[in-house]
Formats: sequence, structure tokens, C-alpha cells
Amino acid sequence: MNHRMFGKTGRRVSEIGLGTWQLGARWGDPFDEAKALEILQAGYECGIDLIDTADIYNNGGSERAIGKFLARHRDHFFVVTKCGRGLDPHTAEGYTPENTERFIDQSLERLGMEQLDLVLLHCPPSSVYQKDELFAGLDKLVQKGKIAHYGVSIEKVSEGLRAMEYPISAIEVIFNMFRLKPAEELFPAAQARQISILARVPLASGLLTGRYTKDTRFGQNDHRSYNRNGEAFDKGETFSGVDYEQGLRAVAELKKLFGTEDLIPYALRWILMQEAVSAVIPGASRPEQVRANVKAAQLPALSPEQMEGVRAIYDRYIRASVHPNW
Ligand SMILES: NC(=O)c1ccc[n+]([C@@H]2O[C@H](COP(=O)([O-])OP(=O)(O)OC[C@H]3O[C@@H](n4cnc5c(N)ncnc54)[C@H](OP(=O)(O)O)[C@@H]3O)[C@@H](O)[C@H]2O)c1
Repeated sequence: MNHRMFGKTGRRVSEIGLGTWQLGARWGDPFDEAKALEILQAGYECGIDLIDTADIYNNGGSERAIGKFLARHRDHFFVVTKCGRGLDPHTAEGYTPENTERFIDQSLERLGMEQLDLVLLHCPPSSVYQKDELFAGLDKLVQKGKIAHYGVSIEKVSEGLRAMEYPISAIEVIFNMFRLKPAEELFPAAQARQISILARVPLASGLLTGRYTKDTRFGQNDHRSYNRNGEAFDKGETFSGVDYEQGLRAVAELKKLFGTEDLIPYALRWILMQEAVSAVIPGASRPEQVRANVKAAQLPALSPEQMEGVRAIYDRYIRASVHPNW
């Protein structure tokens, strides 16, 4: 496993991390803690030392399972968690220093940590990136020692650029072969400020594995069934905002470009071609997926022709429906 510097933190992290939105279950299935611990163990054995979680994943179950696992491996892992989505309703007004501190206290307890390594605001409404008092409150939590670093998880590139006006350490953003805008407009500014980039939804919710067809069915409670048009949350979080059948057409072209049916290592290696990315965080619903995903770290650099080929496929199939929206 290769390691990369995580911006201002001075810490090096595995360039492939573990996303835990679906830890312990396929999306929508009941949470299974034993399965969650198996996935974490697989990550540990593969050399992963960065975990991405959030207070709301599996109603706190994801953080609790990670906390249990950390009891044995605390020094090994850099843990990224997020807060804010527990607000009901999820409005900008709810993003106050007091609520943030309350959420962070709860995460500290679930994770069994004395200090959180990195906390991200969890895709808040855009106007939150103008709340000076909120970011001042995060600075106070750093001074109190409850968090070591803070940052933002964003939907839109414009939000990341706005957030950089505060002393954030990291930005988590959707970045994959179906989402090229961050590389053009966000990464240069982030690099100039030593802000780390975490690339989320790297497989476009599994579409970029190359394993799905038009007949693939997802569970009723899986967002890949119920959020294709943004019915429950931002449409961009499901298949990266790409129309499913159009995505399949683009995937067929990517398979031809790389000469393989298994796109996973190429999809992840393509992301790691960007120097600004500190880590890519594929999610895994089974331990075998973790083991398959880390293989991308061994793949040699993609050629300029392959990089250009991906861009051409993006331009032809994806750009018009994605580029202006996020
Ligand atoms: N707002 C936010 O901040 C936010 C939003 C989204 C995600 N995230 C974070 O980013 C992480 C990654 O994003 P994501 O999980 O949404 O999308 P993703 O990583 O693009 O896709 C994950 C899904 O792809 C499939 N998959 C992964 N590895 C596979 C393999 N080796 N073989 C076959 N299928 C494989 C699995 O589908 P099955 O479940 O069908 O097995 C898995 O659930 C999340 O886990 C979470 O930590 C953050």
C-alpha cells in the first residue's frame, strides 16, 4: 500500500481508504455489526489506515463498530467522521457551534476516541459556507482538543472554493471517471493551500465496477433504487448523478478502452493519478470488495492515451448532464 501526505496534518495515510456508509450491510439492509468488523479487519490486513465514516451512517452503528475495532488498533488508523446530517430538518440554521459541539461529543463517545482526527461538515446547505461563527466554533473545538482538524464534505465545486476561505484541512468531494470538474477547478486551489482531497463515490456507487447491466436490480431500500432523481438527497450521491442507462453506455466504452471487463482497478487508479488526492475511499459491503479494491494501488500509472480516452468518453456521454450541476 502506498501512502500520501494528508495536507497540513503532517500525517501520511494509505492512498486507498475505506468508505463506511454501507459498512456491515448492503445499502438498505439491516446493520450487521459482525460483518462490519470483518470488513474493518479486511481493511486493516490490506494496509488501509484511513477510514471515512459519519455520525448518521447506520444510525451511529458505523461509528460504534469502528470504535469497537479501534479499541485494538487506535494508533493505526486516521479516522474521518462527519456531522450535521443528524439535523432534522437539515437546514443552515441548525449548523450552530452548539449543535456541532454536541454532534462531535456524540461521535467521540461512539468512536471511543479522546480526540477526533478530522471532522467534516456533512454536505451542508451552501449558505453554511458563509457562517463565520460556525467555523470560529470549530477553531474553538480544536483549541479545546476535541478535534485535531476540520474540513468540509461538499456537493459542488463552488462550495469547496468558498470553504477554502476558512482554515480547513480537507475537502471530501465526489471525484471519479464520471466527475471531472473537481480536477479542473478545485484541486489546483486546494493544492496551493495544502488542503487534502478525499475522493468519494469513486466507483459511482458501483456503476464503474463494470459489473452492472440494465437488468441489475437493487433493493427497495437501497438509494440506487429510490434516489436516482434526487428524491431523498442530492442526486449526485447516487451513480454520481449519471443516468443509469447512459452510465452503462459509457462503461461499455471504458471497457473497450482498458481492454477488460473489470474496471475497478482502473477506476481507482485513474483517481490516484491526481496528485491533489490524498486518498480515495471506495465503500465496501463485503470484505472481498475491500481486498479487490486495494489492488488498484499496485497498478502502474495510466498512460496519457488512457487518460485522454477517459476524458473523451466523459465528454461524449457524461459532461452535458453532470458538469454544470456540481
Ligand atoms: N456526503 C458525503 O460525505 C458522502 C456521500 C457518499 C459517500 N461518502 C463516503 O464515500 C464512500 C464511498 O462512496 P460510496 O460508497 O457511496 O460509493 P462507491 O465507493 O462508488 O461505491 C460503493 C459500492 O460499490 C460496490 N463495490 C465496491 N467495491 C466493489 C468490488 N470490489 N466489487 C463489486 N462491487 C463493489 C458496492 O456495491 P454493493 O453495496 O451493491 O455491494 C459498494 O457498496 C462511502 O462509503 C462514504 O464513506 C460520503
